[in-house]
Amino acid sequence: MTKTYRNIYIPERTEIKEKLYLTGDVCLFRVESERPFEYNPGQFFMVSLWGAGEVPISVASLSNKRREIEFCIRRAGKVTSAIHELQEGNFLWIRGPYGKAFPLEYAIGRDVLIVGGGIGLAPLRPVLQWGLQNKNSIKKISLLYGARTPEDIIFKEDLQEWAEKGINVVLTVDRPGDGWDGNIGLVTTLWHKAEIDFKDAVSFICGPEVMIKAAIKDLFFFGMPEERIITTLEAHMKCGVGKCGHCYNGEKYICTDGPVFTYKEIKEFNLL
Ligand SMILES: Cc1cc2nc3c(=O)[nH]c(=O)nc-3n(C[C@H](O)[C@H](O)[C@H](O)COP(=O)(O)OP(=O)(O)OC[C@H]3O[C@@H](n4cnc5c(N)ncnc54)[C@H](O)[C@@H]3O)c2cc1C
Ligand code: FES
Repeated sequence: MTKTYRNIYIPERTEIKEKLYLTGDVCLFRVESERPFEYNPGQFFMVSLWGAGEVPISVASLSNKRREIEFCIRRAGKVTSAIHELQEGNFLWIRGPYGKAFPLEYAIGRDVLIVGGGIGLAPLRPVLQWGLQNKNSIKKISLLYGARTPEDIIFKEDLQEWAEKGINVVLTVDRPGDGWDGNIGLVTTLWHKAEIDFKDAVSFICGPEVMIKAAIKDLFFFGMPEERIITTLEAHMKCGVGKCGHCYNGEKYICTDGPVFTYKEIKEFNLL
């Protein structure tokens, strides 16, 4: 009998069904794959375009049976700029899902604090979607989200919907524009608005490194156990599957041991 196997480096084709600009440089791509993929919040795919290259991108949606995946992509450099040129009906290539997901089971029976900065809200979006689906098993969900300016806030419609559905949504910006009467300053100045029991909560964090560092230290100081302070870490990646060493940091491969880590692991392996 001939054995068939899938070459992990060969990407699979997806078709862009919807392309939606969320801000001037952040775009949501809803793609449809030829076979169903199962993935969990916090995991990522290597997303590629022939002739341009391949980049790691987190899943921005919950896995569903409709073969759809959403990616929220910020135009950063060569590959992401080329992807932004694509239109609905064009093909995007993916391999994955890779990496460890957020341990959502820690949220059961507890308060959940979600802390996001900038494009970091994208990997947290499916955590919030999951939280709403499992609302009855979770005490309270609070989202603290910071962006540079009001124009840089992504997923504005989702934020409104989440607030309407009972999530405590707290927004802040670094630089307010005309008409902004909300919070100004770093997300880490808003802990008093989280309205959760820090000692019995779990936090899921994603954003710029400087925000992550400040957030995890504050949450630990407030009494949140270090194994329940959970964040994603970024690294330059090539293979995504623990072979090339590009993402090696301390004693860990960010692609396979992460990208989701607890503060306990971050301290133990000196990852930040
Ligand atoms: C696990 C993981 C998940 C990610 N999820 C998302 C996502 O959901 N949406 C999104 O827009 N981006 C995400 N990123 C970041 C994204 O992969 C990079 O922006 C992308 O690789 C840049 O490629 P480029 O060719 O467009 O830019 P390049 O020309 O390669 O780089 C442009 C600039 O971005 C910096 N850069 C490139 N890659 C990284 C990186 N991995 N970490 C930090 N800085 C980097 C470069 O140093 C340079 O300054 C994720 C990264 C990782 C590791
Ligand atoms: S990206 Fe190759 S080992 Fe992690």
